[in-house]
Amino acid sequence: EMMKDILGLRAMEAELEQKLGVTKAVIVAGDSDEEDWVKQEMGQACVKELKSIIIPQSVVAVMGGTTLAAVAQMMTPDPKVSQTIFVPARGGLGERVENQANTISAEFADRAGAEYRLMHVPDQLSEEAYSSLVLEPSVREILDLIKTSRILLHGIGDATRMAARRSSEEPFMNKLKREHAVAEAFGYYFNQAGDIIHKQRTIGLQLDELDSGKHVISVAGGASKANAIAAYMKHRPSDVLITDEAAARRLLHNE
Ligand code: G3H
Repeated sequence: EMMKDILGLRAMEAELEQKLGVTKAVIVAGDSDEEDWVKQEMGQACVKELKSIIIPQSVVAVMGGTTLAAVAQMMTPDPKVSQTIFVPARGGLGERVENQANTISAEFADRAGAEYRLMHVPDQLSEEAYSSLVLEPSVREILDLIKTSRILLHGIGDATRMAARRSSEEPFMNKLKREHAVAEAFGYYFNQAGDIIHKQRTIGLQLDELDSGKHVISVAGGASKANAIAAYMKHRPSDVLITDEAAARRLLHNE
């Protein structure tokens, strides 16, 4: 912790809170674009934050991505967390199994000694499939649970990179370019002003359901994500942003 003062990270956290409008910013040393251990450091910071705010017997909703996968690896047992139920916040978005919200939520629960629920919905949902799926009792049950979640953990990605990773079709890639998409978070794509330009159709938590009753923790680092972080926070500043030094320097001083 003293190290953070020496590196000047503490002062940067305050600057970042001001600039992005987040209630709390936590900066870890390093650049997660360059080194994988930095994601684990963000993971440790996220787990610490989660444990400090968790309410026993509550529901925690988690999203996917490589950052959240690294965060889940850092989870450790805790009596307060053991009565938690971890759920995926939204259905499939076209990610590899290890980066899916389902997998990550189960990983969190296993390491914490807590419970989890899976949501079995396909990645590409037609309007009709969507309308009938939400009526399925097993799907309804988990949707109700997701609605009661008090904490949401999610990553933020670069729009084009995320769309490519999810093997998006050419017309969609063109749309992102045309509309200057810069950020992606839980299946929503944003421009630099923070406007939603596309939303992947999947069931679960919708962005407009993130009212003040939900405590949102965003985890994203690496200088390459600075624009994405800024754009997403324009849409809805999170309660907590956990990031790294490289992203913070780019965000604050354009370094
Ligand atoms: O939904 C995923 C996030 O937007 C970012 O993923 O942590 O692998 O960069 P990532």
